[in-house]
Amino acid sequence: MAYHVPVLLHESIEGLEIKPNGIYVDLTFGGGGHSAEILKHLKKGKLYAFDQDEEALKNAIDDKRFTLIRSNFRFFRNFLRYHDVKEVDGILADLGVSSHHFDSPERGFSFRFEGPLDMRMNQEQKLSAKTVVNTYSPEELANVLTQYGELQGAKRLANSICQLREGKSIETVEQLAELLKPMFPSNAQNKMLAQVFQAIRIEVNQEMEALKGMLTNATKSLKKDGRLVVISYHSLEDRLVKNYLRTGNFEGDVDKDFYGNISSPYEQINRKVIVPSPEELKANPRARSGKLRIGRKL
Ligand SMILES: C[S@@+](CC[C@H](N)C(=O)[O-])C[C@H]1O[C@@H](n2cnc3c(N)ncnc32)[C@H](O)[C@@H]1O
Repeated sequence: MAYHVPVLLHESIEGLEIKPNGIYVDLTFGGGGHSAEILKHLKKGKLYAFDQDEEALKNAIDDKRFTLIRSNFRFFRNFLRYHDVKEVDGILADLGVSSHHFDSPERGFSFRFEGPLDMRMNQEQKLSAKTVVNTYSPEELANVLTQYGELQGAKRLANSICQLREGKSIETVEQLAELLKPMFPSNAQNKMLAQVFQAIRIEVNQEMEALKGMLTNATKSLKKDGRLVVISYHSLEDRLVKNYLRTGNFEGDVDKDFYGNISSPYEQINRKVIVPSPEELKANPRARSGKLRIGRKL
């Protein structure tokens, strides 16, 4: 089975407007599909790639112009400095998890398989789905489900999880899914389970905090006219990226200059979000929620 099929490949590489001798960063290496394509467009240029998952390292590309670093991308600027790189020409972030994560039962990302309640992208971190499900207070759980799963009735759901875990620990994906199913209408069970799993995954991997840190560092690292290319897979991420490119802050608060222009560190190259073509969706249905935004650093 393929590790991961790259999403919006052509559109995102075009968005980077690659200079053959430029310095580029792929913050989410995964199976290396985007990195391989970037390298095809480089001559003497360099590509630095990041992934926090140890398993992605086995996909490393053997090429003198390529360096793969295992780290959370929120710290990418420190690693670039270590490699004597102060500014870069383009940054790509293809957010979220890879197909490999969903297809590996032992990683606990998918409720299609039995496996441990894990969901950590970085296998070295302490916080796992098991900790979230078994030790968070009802208020904390409700907060996670509301914020990251955009679930209605999150408070009731969180209270039920806390009642069900009393006197025992919920250890596996199947145990959690079986406890939750009766709480959902039968025609919406899979959709709601997916929302709960997404919410827990975002909390375990602190995905929104990592995204905010990454965007702030990207702005510091890009040269003038450098490109920031972000593919996101759920509305929370996309909203944050959209706000940031438009206004330079995560809330989307507009600050206008004397002439009424919005001051942002970026020009948005695509005002309308770019989504996969019908052909891409046919070939790769997992691309369905992909949303691409491109900024040019001013
Ligand atoms: C959607 S996949 C990227 C797929 C890749 N573009 C390809 O073509 O194969 C996202 C990858 O980014 C990694 N990742 C997600 N969040 C990360 C973070 N905060 N820091 C570092 N890596 C992260 C995941 O481990 C996963 O391998």
